[in-house]
Amino acid sequence: MIQQQIKALAREYFEEIRANRRHLHAHPELSYQEFETAKFIASKLTEYQIDFQSGIAGTGLVAHIKGKNPESKTIALRADIDALPIVEQNDVPYKSKNEGVMHACGHDVHTASLLGACKILQNLKESFEGTIRCIFQLGEEKVPGGASLMIKEGVLENPKPKSILGQHVMPLLPVGKVGFREGMYMASADELYIRVIGKGGHGAMPENCIDPVLITSHIIVALQQVVSRNASPKIPSVLSFGKVIANGATNIIPNEVYIEGTFRTLDEKWRGEAHKKMVKIAEGIAEAMGGRCEFEVRRGYPFLKNHPELTQKAKRGAIEYLGEENVIDLDIWMAAEDFAYYSQITDACFYRLGTRNEAKGIISGVHTPTFDIDEDALEIGAGLMAWLAYKEILG
Ligand code: NI
Repeated sequence: MIQQQIKALAREYFEEIRANRRHLHAHPELSYQEFETAKFIASKLTEYQIDFQSGIAGTGLVAHIKGKNPESKTIALRADIDALPIVEQNDVPYKSKNEGVMHACGHDVHTASLLGACKILQNLKESFEGTIRCIFQLGEEKVPGGASLMIKEGVLENPKPKSILGQHVMPLLPVGKVGFREGMYMASADELYIRVIGKGGHGAMPENCIDPVLITSHIIVALQQVVSRNASPKIPSVLSFGKVIANGATNIIPNEVYIEGTFRTLDEKWRGEAHKKMVKIAEGIAEAMGGRCEFEVRRGYPFLKNHPELTQKAKRGAIEYLGEENVIDLDIWMAAEDFAYYSQITDACFYRLGTRNEAKGIISGVHTPTFDIDEDALEIGAGLMAWLAYKEILG
């Protein structure tokens, strides 16, 4: 039976998958600079005798595993390959050798798992019809997002894949388990940059000034109504400001105040409306109080929707592979992920791979200097992805 064969291969290749993960972990590279990472992936694909194209949108790669009758159907798998500007604090043999850069979001795990899945599927290519396109994607961590660039280069064309699967580590979920969610899953994320301009002067004589600090205070409070009064309760929305700079002093009213924040939601139409409302509120308040404001919305990734039937099917596949007790339903996650771009174009399913092991002290969250995984997750990361791809290509 194919499932048993995939499990056996995932076990057989485990040491290699782990070695690949450790190599990637020790040699992390920042978004859009994944040159050595791309070379490493290319060397492995060559070794596995899998056709691939490199240099897509810079450092992206696309591999094709061709079964019989390769034109008959195409599906896609995706892993992201970039790392973060974090100084690793783990004391492990595979600790980052690139000072200040760290695979703190598990993209080394995603890449090693997809390489493992490629090797497994290449072994099984006589047993399915169609083509499995494997996307090794650059630049997930940084806007505009490597997904959007690779899509522009045509990775979802000629032919368009019927569906795409991606996975992400989940340090809250114990190793051995995976999680799924249909429909709305991850948020769009837009950056807000606001400059509130008044007229500075002596703090003792506010009547001669237009106080941008007071205007900013009103704007920050008023903008929350977009979330609490204008957003539908059915569509989660978040507005947070993490930077407020007013460089005055106890007795100095500054000329201007600078604010930065983030707006996140899970509906593209509402997202656009919310942007307009926020700009209108901020400009209106500033003007009513005698000042003005410059409001820039820098659009980030769209929201990520998991196609319902595809996700149900993948979840059933995971239950077959891991058992009902090891497959959980996920909550909405207000982080953003550029896999969302694929989900706007084709049927997509983005699922989570458990990597936590409290007994071994592996509990740190992603994007922290002590993030790590229980490497047993790699056998599932590769094997389950191969199994889900196999089921999907069979139809
Ligand atoms: Ni990530």
